Amino acid sequence: MTIDVKTHRPYRVIIEPGALDRVGEIALAGKKPGTKAMLISETNVYPLYGERVKAALEKAGFPVSTFIFPAGEEHKQIGTVCDMYKALAQAGFTRTDFIVTLGGGVTGDMGGFTAATFLRGMDFMQVPTTLVSQADASVGGKTGVDLPFGKNLVGAFHQPMAVVTDPQALSTLPQHFFNDGLGEVIKHGCIADRALFEALEQGGALEDMAGMVGRSIAIKRDFVEADTRDTGKRMILNFGHTCGHALEKLHGFQGLSHGEAVGIGMVMACRVGENMGVTQPGTAERVKAVLRRYHMPVEDKFTKEDIVAATALDKKSDGNTLRFILLPKIGESVIHPMDRDELLRAL
Ligand SMILES: NC(=O)c1ccc[n+]([C@@H]2O[C@H](COP(=O)([O-])OP(=O)(O)OC[C@H]3O[C@@H](n4cnc5c(N)ncnc54)[C@H](O)[C@@H]3O)[C@@H](O)[C@H]2O)c1
Repeated sequence: MTIDVKTHRPYRVIIEPGALDRVGEIALAGKKPGTKAMLISETNVYPLYGERVKAALEKAGFPVSTFIFPAGEEHKQIGTVCDMYKALAQAGFTRTDFIVTLGGGVTGDMGGFTAATFLRGMDFMQVPTTLVSQADASVGGKTGVDLPFGKNLVGAFHQPMAVVTDPQALSTLPQHFFNDGLGEVIKHGCIADRALFEALEQGGALEDMAGMVGRSIAIKRDFVEADTRDTGKRMILNFGHTCGHALEKLHGFQGLSHGEAVGIGMVMACRVGENMGVTQPGTAERVKAVLRRYHMPVEDKFTKEDIVAATALDKKSDGNTLRFILLPKIGESVIHPMDRDELLRAL
């Protein structure tokens, strides 16, 4: 399956079992043989898939250097990016060469940021290996790193030259990280694809992983094309994130994963919408049932007062007005500005 993304720089997302072996051939669409490739990956993913991707690039005629960093969000930091710059400079990379990021969202975000900034910008290709990155992060061009005082605080919009997605790579992904991505897939069903939501509700979605990833990415693509730099409609993708981010913060970013927090946030957003008369009654219960089906939490120990207070520092907020996302019904979404008092009353 191929999905075209028409941002100012158009690119293709190729979703296909075994696609890892086609990375080199796909790169030939934009790069001449002999162009240097820097394969950026991390310590969990490279031993599983690195040599296959390296061999595929070499077979297509690209000389490959590798940069492997320690796996984990704690390494998504400027220091690692500086090490990437050093590896690129030492290997004599120029602006016409390219980077290939092989790994989850951490690798894609950070390798993409390096590509956006080294020599004022070079091409990169995303090869996502987690459900978060295949179904969400690899499309949209958001790249970046964390700072000691906040996640993703430094970054750039930089679209990849192509995304090569191999759903078979998900077979080695630990369940916890798989569920994290499922939270985003359920979100995409909620905001824009009733049929995807129903397939998740009935349990059939996981039988066709390439199809599920493809539908999820197509939804993200639609919002990204409509609003590449995230100043309007793309905010709909934040459904569940206002309360979800607040919960992550209250948990000190430990214990509760991002996808789990967003799942609880989606239930809360549906409840808010139902209490305000915007959301079809029963929607929160349907979202809860889907989350439970995939063993994800549907509620949390923190009080609504705690949660609303924690939204105060949300970087997506605008003064005292939260751009809250509500679902009129499954598959439809709206941006609904409201202040914190209103949110507290509706929760
Ligand atoms: N750019 C965007 O639009 C966007 C969107 C959502 C999330 N993100 C970012 O993505 C990150 C989270 O993504 P993630 O969950 O992919 O994180 P991750 O890259 O840390 O991967 C999660 C874990 O899975 C391991 N792993 C990766 N692929 C594997 C495989 N195929 N088999 C076995 N293990 C594998 C990794 O080593 C890691 O331990 C966050 O930093 C977040 O900010 C970015």
